[in-house]
Amino acid sequence: MARRFLFVLGSSRSESNTEMLARRAAEQLPADVEQQWISLAEHPVPDFVDLRHDSDHTRPTEGNLALLLDATLAATDLVIASPLYWYSVSASTKRYLDHWSGWLRTPGLDFKATLAGRTLWGVTALAHREGEVADPLVGTLNNSAAYMGMRFGGVLLGNGSKPGDVLRDTEALTRAKTFFATEAPLARFPYDTE
Ligand SMILES: Cc1cc2nc3c(=O)[nH]c(=O)nc-3n(C[C@H](O)[C@H](O)[C@H](O)COP(=O)(O)O)c2cc1C
Repeated sequence: MARRFLFVLGSSRSESNTEMLARRAAEQLPADVEQQWISLAEHPVPDFVDLRHDSDHTRPTEGNLALLLDATLAATDLVIASPLYWYSVSASTKRYLDHWSGWLRTPGLDFKATLAGRTLWGVTALAHREGEVADPLVGTLNNSAAYMGMRFGGVLLGNGSKPGDVLRDTEALTRAKTFFATEAPLARFPYDTE
């Protein structure tokens, strides 16, 4: 299957450090790898309503949710490009992920079987210089990938506060050059030690 990367952008501003870093990493992808970029600020999704135990979720057929669902199902590689907000993903990113819970219960979608074996990646910009403060974001993405039976390629971190700062983080720019070239192992929960 030809590789197809979906970049889901979760910043709430247009001049986004996270997006700049993600684009630096994406520049290294071979030309025959398709790329789709969707900004959640430009394509907002509604709050998720949990109907899992009341009635069937139905497949969205129009609007931003349908766009995101179709793009998610079509991606071999899904990149969550969210700034670090309160040590985790941004609210718009989290809202998109919450919809996965509905898609998992939507008859006919086979959402979990479709995503299993595909690869989840993360890119984030943060103001803090010590990257370990992003551990909650990394854990969210790792555990979500493990739950879905996906591969996890890790999270590319970049430092910056105001727009453009990340382009001065030379270590992040160096990491970006090879980030998507790494082999992504099947994700495992932290308790899964075998
Ligand atoms: C709502 C909000 C929460 C933030 N929380 C954190 C945080 O927990 N840790 C941190 O290091 N930086 C935090 N920041 C700073 C951003 O991560 C930083 O400005 C980053 O460069 C923004 O990326 P963007 O340009 O892609 O939106 C926060 C910024 C905002 C607006």
